[in-house]
Amino acid sequence: MKIDVSRKLPEHIECLVYLHQEDAEIKGPEILGEELLQAIESFCKLENFNFSLGAITSFTRMINKKKQVIILCGVGKKEQFDSIILRNNLGNCWREATQHKVRQAYLALGFEAKIPEAELGHILSESALLSTYRFDKYRSNSISHEIQSIHLIYFAKTNRHLNRGILEGRIYAESTILARNLVNEPANVMNPETLAEHAKKAALEYGFSIEIHSLDKLKRLKMEALLAVGKGSKSEPKLIIMRYNGIPDKKSTKTALIGKGLTFDTGGYSLKPTDGMVNMKSDMGGAAAVIGAMAAIASLKLKVNVVGIVAAAENMISSTAYRPGDIITSMAGKTIEVVNTDAEGRLTLVDAIHYALEKEKADRILDIATLTGAAVAALGTDYSAVLSNDQDWLTTLKKAADFTGEKFWQMPLHLPYKDLIKSEVADLKNSGGRLAGCITAALFIHEFVQDKPWIHIDIAGRALRDKPQGIESHGATGAGVRLLTSLLRNME
Ligand code: BES
Ligand code: MN
Ligand code: ZN
Repeated sequence: MKIDVSRKLPEHIECLVYLHQEDAEIKGPEILGEELLQAIESFCKLENFNFSLGAITSFTRMINKKKQVIILCGVGKKEQFDSIILRNNLGNCWREATQHKVRQAYLALGFEAKIPEAELGHILSESALLSTYRFDKYRSNSISHEIQSIHLIYFAKTNRHLNRGILEGRIYAESTILARNLVNEPANVMNPETLAEHAKKAALEYGFSIEIHSLDKLKRLKMEALLAVGKGSKSEPKLIIMRYNGIPDKKSTKTALIGKGLTFDTGGYSLKPTDGMVNMKSDMGGAAAVIGAMAAIASLKLKVNVVGIVAAAENMISSTAYRPGDIITSMAGKTIEVVNTDAEGRLTLVDAIHYALEKEKADRILDIATLTGAAVAALGTDYSAVLSNDQDWLTTLKKAADFTGEKFWQMPLHLPYKDLIKSEVADLKNSGGRLAGCITAALFIHEFVQDKPWIHIDIAGRALRDKPQGIESHGATGAGVRLLTSLLRNME
């Protein structure tokens, strides 16, 4: 898709996307011409369209025997406008344009956006590429139509900042799409081994290094928690280690990004019901976020040192599967009573975290995981749940989230609830039961971070969408890729 900034218009405009604020006078870049603006104004009067937040409509007309599509979209009141509103509404517009089978679209804003030009460019390309994404490789007659070019009608002294932003938005989008593709692949295709292969391909393509540990090595490392979870599957667990050193000197701090990589989660013997299992191919959404973020961080050549770790496994039922009641010894040496085989994510994560601290000498830990139904119940599909032992680092994450529009809400790391995961027969049990499920899952992980700065992001509600919204299309959202990338960028 071609995306650029344009000062002139062609003879015929096939499609105009026009964004405006609520109840404001219809105006726009002068080159749009009186006729076009008057057509918009009459339509709005006739249809009582006042550009309230999120409102979108379109009309078509014939100009010199050629069809023209005009898409109108409201960004709401002047006071409430921000870059997140712009991104999501643009996403809806590009999707609308796709439905009209438009090939070339021009974008005009009826108001002054007051967003830095680089950010405007970023939002333009990111919204166009992400909102029009579809996972249709398995459809025999793929019906998808692609917009070929998008042009922002804008007058700047120089297009330098806008173009830099457009390029950067492309990197963010491409990495997010990489993650979406990994999550959308069904579990009969995506297993720990193929996930590792995909990570290898991404490493080659985007320029970070990779190492993959298989069964024998995992046994030698004593990663029994990860091994227990993967025992029931024919596809053996893999530990995927991705490294990117933007500052080669050894003293700089190293951030570990740990992604939950359950390529399928049946629940194991604590079996999930059908409805709860149907979407569990997305249980590697955290892993996809980490692989995507590694790709973006390497593409942007950020001056940071990062190690991305994915402990990939499949939680299945078989005669070799782990059972409720089993007691396992994690790599860290802490023993764990398995009271619920469906609380498997935290088991894989704590071995990956211990590996990051002991073998990779990571200074700080961020884990991202589709970890608990409790996070979904509490915050739904638009917010991730976040817990942390480091409020300063969390402030940096909040800044990143404000930029990317990926919302999160902090849950309390309430230490007294550690009582809920105490075991009579082992050091810990892997589930604290029904109460505060999102918090007790985080507290379990907290036991393994050795008081290093740590952020935990539960994206259980965010990984998949059943209908499009803003820049997110149906299926995998690629949640976390842009957030982690921006976080690392703010840590440069
Ligand atoms: N992968 C699930 C969490 C999940 C639920 C992700 C819904 C996406 C949508 C996780 O492994 C799980 O099963 N968690 C259990 C934990 C419980 C047994 C303590 C849950 O939340 O029910
Ligand atoms: Mn589970
Ligand atoms: Zn799971």
